[in-house]
Amino acid sequence: MITLKNSAEIAVMRAASRIVAEVLEELVAAARPGVSTLELDRLAEELTLKKGARPAFKGYRPGEVEYRHSLCVSINEEIVHGIPKAGRKLKPGDIVGLDFGVVYQGFYGDAARTVAIGKVTEGAVRLMQVTRAALYAGIERAVVGNRISDIARAVQHTAEAAGFSVVTDFAGHGIGRKLHEDPQVPNYFLPGMPNPRLQEGMVLAIEPMINEGTAELEILADGWTAVTADGKLSAHFEHSIAITASGPEILSELANA
Ligand code: MF3
Ligand code: CO
Repeated sequence: MITLKNSAEIAVMRAASRIVAEVLEELVAAARPGVSTLELDRLAEELTLKKGARPAFKGYRPGEVEYRHSLCVSINEEIVHGIPKAGRKLKPGDIVGLDFGVVYQGFYGDAARTVAIGKVTEGAVRLMQVTRAALYAGIERAVVGNRISDIARAVQHTAEAAGFSVVTDFAGHGIGRKLHEDPQVPNYFLPGMPNPRLQEGMVLAIEPMINEGTAELEILADGWTAVTADGKLSAHFEHSIAITASGPEILSELANA
């Protein structure tokens, strides 16, 4: 069941997503060689509580193993859901996915960025640029009257035209009073998949995960960390967006505010 949001609810979601964007901005600034992924997690949590919000991922438990941290930090071949650790320090040449969400006044916000630490390879830069472009191509199609497939195909086309592969084991999602709501927002589309029409008041988290090599992944023994099966790089960008009569509004982007 898809829950549409009215303008008052979207106003609260705008505030929630703004907190996510502000925290991500600070995390990007803090992501330097030698910093541990656990330090980034602590910073994210501290900033969030100061802003009167709560981290969304902490205590999340869709499967067997509860997620115990506030932030997901996924480095290089890690696709998503990398678990912060005191012993995992960022180093020059890494690409680092920072995925963060909050709940504020009853509503969730969720966003992710992948950033370079120091100098990274040209291939890594291109992967990050294409993944970000795939997200924005998807957002552009998030207009009333289109369908989920329009978003999905735009993401997929952007990634595949660049020679990269789309992760199919995870998808974007509706977002609101829950972190994960209907509809699913896949990053590829095949006939027969659920394909609702987009309506005013839908709020979606669009989140392409794009791999340099194979789309196949493995989950590490920690029960969370998804890594590429071939060990090649992966990138992840995500925004929470509202579908309005005048087009998509990116809730989790600071430049927009
Ligand atoms: N952005 C991710 C998502 O939408 C992060 C989830 S981490 C989890 O699913 F711990 F909450 F699962
Ligand atoms: Co998400």
